[in-house]
Amino acid sequence: MSAASSKEETVDINSKEVLISSDEIKKRVEELGRQISADYQGRELHLVGVLNGAFIFLADLARQLSIPCQICFLQASSYKDKKVSSGEVTLMHNLDLSRKEVLVVEDIVDTGLTLKYILEDLQQQNPESLEICALLSKNIPDKAPVPVKYVGFEIEDRFVVGYGLDFAEKYREVPHIACLD
Ligand code: IMP
Repeated sequence: MSAASSKEETVDINSKEVLISSDEIKKRVEELGRQISADYQGRELHLVGVLNGAFIFLADLARQLSIPCQICFLQASSYKDKKVSSGEVTLMHNLDLSRKEVLVVEDIVDTGLTLKYILEDLQQQNPESLEICALLSKNIPDKAPVPVKYVGFEIEDRFVVGYGLDFAEKYREVPHIACLD
């Protein structure tokens, strides 16, 4: 039985291919932190983490910033325990980002649909600036055209878990990025 067909089955994650090691992630997050700090020098940044997947990435990235920042979250869901997007994005938040310098922190860009919804939604609050930082971006042909300013790693079109990313709420605690397929 495949992982997709049973919510109960837990795969031995140590038997799965490591796509990005925890050391590689650490180095890249440090680089992103330096780059973002330089770009936002003299400004106060508002990091908006996309729950649930971005919680570990945001926590590590925020600690690599050398500029002041505020941290808040919104919740987005589109996968509903499956490995392909349901195509419907649900957003939940209570944010006021008017005239703020906003950096949306996302775990992974797949079709780009989630970020497209988030950008359209947050834009209505008239932030001073609105940019995206994603740990991973999948190399797929029909992506929604969303401008992602900071990308940790471009990856091939595989289903990945770990470092906050899940399948049916499992494997978020894994310290590296592993391929589940
Ligand atoms: P998109 O709307 O297709 O770009 O999907 C974005 C969201 O889907 C991400 O925030 C993740 O929560 C989830 N997602 C997409 N690909 C993967 C994956 O390979 N593993 C785990 N979650 C994924």
